[in-house]
Amino acid sequence: MIKGCIFDLDGVIVDTAKYHYLAWKRLANELGFEFTEEDNERLKGVSRMKSLEILLEIGNKDFDEETKIELAEKKNGWYVEYISKMDESEILDGVKEFLTELREKGIKISLGSVSKNAMTILKNINLLPYFDAVIDGTKVTNAKPDPEVFLKAAEELGLKPEECCVFEDAVAGIEAARRANMKVIGVGSPEILGSADKVIDGFKGITIDILNL
Ligand code: BG6
Ligand code: MG
Repeated sequence: MIKGCIFDLDGVIVDTAKYHYLAWKRLANELGFEFTEEDNERLKGVSRMKSLEILLEIGNKDFDEETKIELAEKKNGWYVEYISKMDESEILDGVKEFLTELREKGIKISLGSVSKNAMTILKNINLLPYFDAVIDGTKVTNAKPDPEVFLKAAEELGLKPEECCVFEDAVAGIEAARRANMKVIGVGSPEILGSADKVIDGFKGITIDILNL
């Protein structure tokens, strides 16, 4: 039986994937190459530094470590600028209703994101009170597809991995949930997220029944 739900943030609760994309694209363009939305799929759920590696591989560029850190900081500066303007209106449709129902029915809720900006976003959109635990990029060393982020979330909720269900929009996140021995519901397109137990296109109209997997 599912006793806890673990939510990825970017692309599940809010559409920050678009801000990550805009910031990475800006960096790619500044470095003199194109970066498409299709390329961006590879960055979803992946850590900041690993994302930079993938971006540079796409652009066929290489830099020393110090420059790479500067480039990642530059991208993050733009990203932080975009997310600083976020408010409650950016919570994706149905998310708040679903979280409310979970709380009413006694299901524990955790965040499971590798973003170091997760707390800022949760505060900006006023969603922090819904969470029993928040595991983000400041608390893990291994990004998805490593299961660390989800295992830590289960631990903080006081649940066994098999009692948890993960909601994810990234291929790397679905793999991480699988490796953690958890059920996983993909949020997005079935063509991309086919390896999940179920795929939904968003939370509008979604009820606790979705947890009968
Ligand atoms: C994930 C995003 O949630 O967080 C990735 O899907 C992003 O695209 C990663 O790279 C790290 O985010 P941040 O905010 O720490 O740069
Ligand atoms: Mg995501």
